[in-house]
Order: sequence, then structure tokens, then C-alpha cells
Amino acid sequence: MGKHEGFPSNPQKYKRVSCDNGDTVPSWKIYQNTFANYLRDFAEVDPDQKIVTKLETKKDPVVIDLMGSTDAVSSLQKEFFPSGILKKKTGTFVAVGLDDDRDEVTRRKEASRGIEFIYGNLTNKKTWDKIESTIGEENADIVMERGYGGLWYVPTRPLYQKAVMNRMWKLLSPDGGILAVQTPPEDILEKRGFPIGSWLTKVAESGIMHNFVGEFCSLDGNIRYGMLLLQKNSPEEQLPDL
Ligand SMILES: C[S@@+](CC[C@H](N)C(=O)[O-])C[C@H]1O[C@@H](n2cnc3c(N)ncnc32)[C@H](O)[C@@H]1O
Repeated sequence: MGKHEGFPSNPQKYKRVSCDNGDTVPSWKIYQNTFANYLRDFAEVDPDQKIVTKLETKKDPVVIDLMGSTDAVSSLQKEFFPSGILKKKTGTFVAVGLDDDRDEVTRRKEASRGIEFIYGNLTNKKTWDKIESTIGEENADIVMERGYGGLWYVPTRPLYQKAVMNRMWKLLSPDGGILAVQTPPEDILEKRGFPIGSWLTKVAESGIMHNFVGEFCSLDGNIRYGMLLLQKNSPEEQLPDL
């Protein structure tokens, strides 16, 4: 196994770094990026710009960013729903992660624009329950995750990957909701017992729109990641078992 292929299957507990003044800061190399920056990576699996089209055609979208600060959803709202900046409600924009480094003023301003941060670990069921209760009766138009280093803090084992895939799928709108997620690279998934190749064959047989790139040239130097896009086009569409 190469130096950067780690993706520990039993990840360490995430800890922020302590500063001399008693504050703590995250030590991510890639952090607080804008949505435009995410789109560069999502282009790997979205050459037709389905994500942008969805945002351009939706009035009150529900967008969820797993493993991120509010920066991506906030910049997405500014670009596609500028009236949100004037404090008109234009949708629901949720970021989920273990770091929220906003000051109080930004927190209040963003809350008034429909932007929420859920502090929670994706390995805990209660985080998923909180995401569901936050969007209530609504479904998500976009569920995205571009966790980069954060992916090293969740298990790669198939039981976890499958459970998370099902939770994300459940959140999606059956009216063309899009899931765009960064994954461990294909060979790591296969080695750890998630048969991504044969699973995607079953996804295709179920008629679910999908696109997967097993490894792409990412922002993160030598570290390899995959990228997956799925679209839910009817309430009957169910993800197949592994
Ligand atoms: C490398 S940063 C990426 C941030 C952002 N997506 C971006 O591209 O700029 C990793 C993110 O994953 C979050 N994270 C790490 N482990 C997590 C976990 N177990 N559950 C939820 N979020 C986690 C961190 O809080 C952080 O926001």
C-alpha cells in the first residue's frame, strides 16, 4: 500500500488543534472553499452541468453539504439566489461538519438567509436524524459532500458506506434530486469490501442515473479520491444492496 493510500478503516477520533490563546482551530489543508471550487471537482461526474441546471431552475432549493463549513452553501446562495442576501428566504441551505469557525455576526446573518450549520459526526445516527428534522417535510435538491481529508475520519468499511448511501438517498427529492459525493478511490472501496463496480452495474439495472469516476486528479496532491453522482427521478427508485 502506498504512503497516501491509508484511508484508515477504523478512523481516529477527530480533534481540533489547540492554540496558545486557548482557542482551537482545524488543521485541514482544504477548508472553507466556495461552491465554485466544489464544482470544479463535481465536473468529473457532471459534464452536462446537471447541478448548475438544477439550481438555475429551482426557486426554493434545499441544499445539503456534508463535511463542510457554511462557506460553500453560502456562496452557492449568493450566486444562484441573490435575493437571499437581502434576507428574503430563498430555500434551505445546510452544512454539516465538526468545525464551525464563524463569528457570531456571520452566524446571525447567515441564519436570517436560511443557512444552517449542524454540528455533528456523520458516523452518529443522531446527526442524520438532525439533518432530517432540519429539512422537515422537504426533500433535498442537492446533497453534496466534498470531504477531502474529512473522509479519513469516517470508516471505509462497506456497512458504513452503504448505511450512509441509504441515508443520503432518503434525503433526496424524487423529482430529480442530485447526490454528488467524493469517495475513497475505487480500488480502496473494492479492497475494503464495497464492490463499487458490481454495485454500480446493479444501480444501472435499476434504471438509476449515475456517473462514477474511480480516481481523479484532486486538489489534494497525491491523495486519491473517487467521485460519484446519482440522480433520483422517482419515489420508487431504491438503491440496490451491495
Ligand atoms: C478537509 S475539510 C473539507 C471542507 C469543505 N468540504 C471544502 O471542500 O472546503 C473536512 C471537513 O469534514 C468535516 N468532518 C471531518 N470528519 C467528519 C465527520 N466524522 N463527520 C462530519 N464531518 C466531518 C470537518 O469538520 C471539515 O469541515
